Amino acid sequence: MQILQDKKIVLGISGGIAAYKTPELVRRLKEQGADVRVVMTEGAKAFITPLTLQAVSGNPVSDSLLDTQAELAMGHIELAKWADIIIIAPATADIIARIACGMANDLLSTLCLATTAPIAIAPAMNQQMWHAKATQENTEKLAERGCHIWGPGSGEQACGDVGLGRMLEVDELVTLSSDFFADKYLDNQHWLITAGPTREAIDPVRYISNHSSGKMGYAIAHAAVRAGAKVTLISGPVAIPAPAGCKLISVNSAEEMHQQALKFAPSSTTFVACAAVADYRVANVASQKIKKSKDAMQLELVRNHDIVADVASLENKPFMVGFAAETQNVEHYARGKLMRKNLDLIAANDVAKAGQGFNSDNNALTLFSAIDKTEIPLANKKIVANHLVSLINQHFLAKKS
Ligand code: PMT
Repeated sequence: MQILQDKKIVLGISGGIAAYKTPELVRRLKEQGADVRVVMTEGAKAFITPLTLQAVSGNPVSDSLLDTQAELAMGHIELAKWADIIIIAPATADIIARIACGMANDLLSTLCLATTAPIAIAPAMNQQMWHAKATQENTEKLAERGCHIWGPGSGEQACGDVGLGRMLEVDELVTLSSDFFADKYLDNQHWLITAGPTREAIDPVRYISNHSSGKMGYAIAHAAVRAGAKVTLISGPVAIPAPAGCKLISVNSAEEMHQQALKFAPSSTTFVACAAVADYRVANVASQKIKKSKDAMQLELVRNHDIVADVASLENKPFMVGFAAETQNVEHYARGKLMRKNLDLIAANDVAKAGQGFNSDNNALTLFSAIDKTEIPLANKKIVANHLVSLINQHFLAKKS
């Protein structure tokens, strides 16, 4: 069953240029099974017509507090009670300010006062308006009252400015909506996850690294956040954004990752080492760019700390999950690392197979404990991550009981 199946969503649209994206948002929420009813402010109608939103939502659009027909049945109270969540997207500086002040001067602001449903706000405005002290204070006030603040995103704006203030993309809003209703089975857990590659400097312009894109580790972080965990993600340099809701610690080298992992591990319940960490670093990093002088050159390499093994040797260690990226004898090498590094579980990744592993959107894993093994079949890394997180939790609970 889809997570948004039969969920009742009131989508409040206020008057910003991003309103043009809302028919697509309604369509995508409905595709996930939600029943969507749209409420528009007067400003919103300058950007998009109620008729369009009625057509895509399949429900009448509400836009007036003083609609004699709707109010015969106390329309605004009925809508306020109907909603499982009110999502305001785009949320302009004006609607944010009015809700923060508790005003009830149109249907949307009145609904926010009259509802007991959770409210999510997707800010969308010029970057200067977003940074204005008043907007920041109003948004903080709403967050303190328990409103969910989804965004804003950063980038080029309709007015030509560049910066924070863009409404999150439709994809991101749909993901946040389904995350909101997902089963929070990791509530009270703190997951520490490493992801991406590390870079070991040779000189100021060159480094040793690998093909890790961070996609697998970031998908695990997202799946854990979605399941309600507090997540700290220690990441090497990657080109993808961190999942909303996790604390991102950016590092470059294996030694930096080691330092951060040891710092956060004692307060974590689960450690997932998905990063592709360089086993060696250059012994003497050149302070200036190395010039070509001979046909061959040698670099002396020294061993890096083994991060996952060092965390596993802590007295107050979390539940330990490693990865093993292998090109041959996958099970044999993975089981060896499980024992040698003193882990609870290891996810073996056959990276010799095409279409999975490093830098692919898809993956397949085999999860080994000391006594059993479970296959996670080839699928998009987001699906693999959901499956893996749930399996890790089952082993974690079994160990605790
Ligand atoms: O990032 P993507 O492009 O999505 O690709 C995902 C992935 C292939 C990188 C990922 O699925 C994966 O397999 N990660 C582990 C890669 C790896 O370095 O494996 P390893 O077999 O060399 O290391 C074994 C374990 O020890 C790993 O948990 C690793 O994080 C850890 N390790 C290794 C060396 C070191 N110095 N410290 C460590 O903690």
